[in-house]
Amino acid sequence: MRRNFTLKTFNTFGLDVMAAYVVTVNDLSDIERLRKSGYWQLDKKMILGGGSNCLFLDDYYEGIVLLMNNKGVSIQDYDADFVKVSVAAGEDWTPFVQRMVAAGYGGIENLTLIPGKVGASPMQNIGAYGVEIKDVFLRLQAFDLENGKLVDFEAADCEFGYRSSVFKTTLKGKFVILSVDFLLHKHPQANFQYGSIREELSRLGVSQPEIVDVSVAITNIRRSKLPDPLQLGNAGSFFKNPVVHRLVFDDLKREFPDIVGYPEKTNTVKLAAAWLIEKAGWKGRRVGDVGVHKNQALVIVNYGGATGRDIFSFAMEIQQSVRETFGIHLEPEVNII
Ligand code: FAD
Ligand code: EPU
Repeated sequence: MRRNFTLKTFNTFGLDVMAAYVVTVNDLSDIERLRKSGYWQLDKKMILGGGSNCLFLDDYYEGIVLLMNNKGVSIQDYDADFVKVSVAAGEDWTPFVQRMVAAGYGGIENLTLIPGKVGASPMQNIGAYGVEIKDVFLRLQAFDLENGKLVDFEAADCEFGYRSSVFKTTLKGKFVILSVDFLLHKHPQANFQYGSIREELSRLGVSQPEIVDVSVAITNIRRSKLPDPLQLGNAGSFFKNPVVHRLVFDDLKREFPDIVGYPEKTNTVKLAAAWLIEKAGWKGRRVGDVGVHKNQALVIVNYGGATGRDIFSFAMEIQQSVRETFGIHLEPEVNII
């Protein structure tokens, strides 16, 4: 256990947050030992993967941070079409994806270059370019912080939704996800329905893409739009894309003919929050050391000296401005700590 440990390199906003106690979890016994110790009585505890979807409001976290670092990937034959891949929560997401792509196992190549660790991937059902983790998810194993028991969660138990799961809602902070099992295709078909993937593949001169080509195309697209947290602090999209009833969308469309929305199955439309934020005049705007990224209006960046509260207040100003302009509520995607 480390005391008064800085989390500056463990959160992608690059905030210089000090944690009262940090325990690195290399395996289950680290959590079990901590549970039996006197420190367990401390009220506040949190689980941290790569810190790429967290905003710490204060510069001191007065509790215990469990830093996930358990490792291991095991691949088993599942049936004629699938392999089952069991991955420890502390594995880094993108190297895992790249390893699977190189081995020819398909299903997660569209999620290339999402930062963070495997254990956080079910937490908000990570998604990009037409794929979500729920599409390849089999089950996960988690540790119940209350009673110390190991529990398996099948897909139905996780209540996956858009950027959501039971671990982000009713069970938030109650379970440590220890490992995740995925079913990946042995004979994958590349999924390149997204317009921007097709454009990038054609720029690369690929006419019959395989999963590796999709992975490369997505890497290029993401690098061109999203800031690298090592250079400019950020946590990806700060807000979720709001989902509204089709009639609300129709009304907005009359007033704002170029509004961007994607119809969903059930009379709802997912609006591009980036468009709303840009239209409300925020794209590229900077106040002190916080700003909206110049290439992607949904990404709030820390130019270096911002505090967690600076970032939060700035985000709330954007939220209010979008509400006043369009009557739409933007819900943060980032976990506010
Ligand atoms: P953390 O930030 O460490 O944690 C996130 C939350 O999960 C916290 O509440 C934490 O307590 C909890 N948690 C973490 N690990 C565990 C565990 N083992 N057990 C229980 N709870 C846990 N997300 C997308 O969905 N799609 C994208 O395309 C995308 N692009 C991004 C691009 C950039 C540049 C950045 C910076 C972020 C992006 N994100 C995206 C957000 C982020 O990368 C994902 O949400 C990622 O899964 C977070 O992983 P992490 O390990 O960093 O989680
Ligand atoms: N747009 C603007 N202004 C901008 C950027 C985008 O008007 O500055 C409009 C464009 O019309 C564009 C549309 O918004 O076509 C959608 O933009 P983009 O394709 O970049 O996707 P997004 O909706 O902004 C979502 C996810 C990303 C994910 C990408 C690709 C959310 C909240 N964000 O972004 O996930 O990588 O799609 O699938 O769902 C994250 O969750 O952190 C994240 C980065």
